[in-house]
Amino acid sequence: MLRVCVCVSGGGTNLQAIIDAIDAGKITNAQIVRVISNNKGAFALERARGKGIDAVAISPKDYADRELFNEAFLQCVDEAEPDLVVLAGFLVVIPPVMIQKYERRIINIHPSLIPSFCGTGYYGLKVHEAALARGVKVTGATVHFVDEGTDTGPIILQKAVEVLPDDTPKVLQQRVMEQAEWQILPQAIDMIANGRI
Ligand code: GAR
Repeated sequence: MLRVCVCVSGGGTNLQAIIDAIDAGKITNAQIVRVISNNKGAFALERARGKGIDAVAISPKDYADRELFNEAFLQCVDEAEPDLVVLAGFLVVIPPVMIQKYERRIINIHPSLIPSFCGTGYYGLKVHEAALARGVKVTGATVHFVDEGTDTGPIILQKAVEVLPDDTPKVLQQRVMEQAEWQILPQAIDMIANGRI
């Protein structure tokens, strides 16, 4: 059984997609052992607790500096003894020491077709605002391994989504989630859990 630790910052719809895929048998040989949020008010924590999943909030605001937060965050991950760490809308930079310790064991979902609209400053709605500003006709989502760069690690899965003429950033974000993110993130976890990557 693959032990999965999911890190979140907000609404947690990708976390929900993972939970639902496990319940539906679309992800096999995996269990969520802990959900960690840097944001105490994240609805994702309620989703986890509602399912009886261990859910922990650990905020940088409660630490004197970034280094102390990073140490506490890594300890919080280590305690869960995960085989895989999933960044599902986690808006905190992963400390290099953790990336080395969990090499090829951290994956991230990004709401564009990397290498478009990714890297520093591209997160959440900003990604979709940039895609609409550039006038692309196709966007999508990417699941990739996390390395020391921002959105630079090896790509695992991508799925394209059409941009429609009247799209607003929010409308496009919702379509990318429904048609791409909520499918390829669970799919990637199932592939890893079953030794297909
Ligand atoms: C998702 O769209 C995810 O791809 C994005 O944040 C959103 C979180 O939504 N992540 C990034 O932008 C990372 N660079 P959720 O909390 O409902 O899953």
